[in-house]
Amino acid sequence: MRKKVIAGNWKMYKTPAEAQAFIEDLIPLIKDHTRDEVLLFPSPTSLPAAVEAAAGTNICIGSQTVHWLDEGAYTGQTSPRMLNAIGATHVLLGHSEPRTYDSETDERVNLKLKAALRHGLKAVVCIGEKLEERQDGLTLDVLLAQLSGGLAGITPQDAANFVIAYEPVWAIGTGHTATPDQAEEAHAAIRSKLAEHLGGDVADSMRILYGGSVKPANIDELLSMPNIDGALIGGASLIAQDFARMVHYNTK
Ligand code: PGA
Repeated sequence: MRKKVIAGNWKMYKTPAEAQAFIEDLIPLIKDHTRDEVLLFPSPTSLPAAVEAAAGTNICIGSQTVHWLDEGAYTGQTSPRMLNAIGATHVLLGHSEPRTYDSETDERVNLKLKAALRHGLKAVVCIGEKLEERQDGLTLDVLLAQLSGGLAGITPQDAANFVIAYEPVWAIGTGHTATPDQAEEAHAAIRSKLAEHLGGDVADSMRILYGGSVKPANIDELLSMPNIDGALIGGASLIAQDFARMVHYNTK
């Protein structure tokens, strides 16, 4: 049984005080919830406040960014050592927004993934096709190429420490969610590719999350599909009550 992951990607929202208030609101709403892993990705300046507010709870805190080097003359970057030092435990890699605006490439995703794993950080690796690519019938080609590039040199032993998030770019922030069948088809293809890279047993144990306009109204159906092992949630993760409802998918 794969433990599902419910992750909130806060993007460039929430100051430290807002992050702290959200977590304080969330804690009682998901107290004693052990069925799923719960993960939040605040913006860099809110990370320390979020780590402190979530200490000793069932909520893990991750960074939306990481560099692959330990230190150096790289203005604006954050190294894995710095994340270790403040107690962040996860990183988000390959999201379509940095792929679009900040020259995130599969090669960089791969360097960052290896660096994160070396430093004991767990990773969420995002892949996803653009609307034109889907319309041209290229969805699976794009996903599998991103997977091959991003996971080059990754071993079966690494598999417990990262998950994949399938995020169709046309569904992110648009309100157009992939249908459960569209998402399931992509997730099944991703799992087959993971089996080629890492072996069938390892692929069966890996979590593949869906992201793209997930909200309280559609999470139950999406997470009922056999290959959908969680959700990466943007806009709808910004309100504690909505996020808590999604942590309790298919029960409340
Ligand atoms: P959304 O974002 O839920 O607002 O579509 C998802 C994401 O970008 O991870």
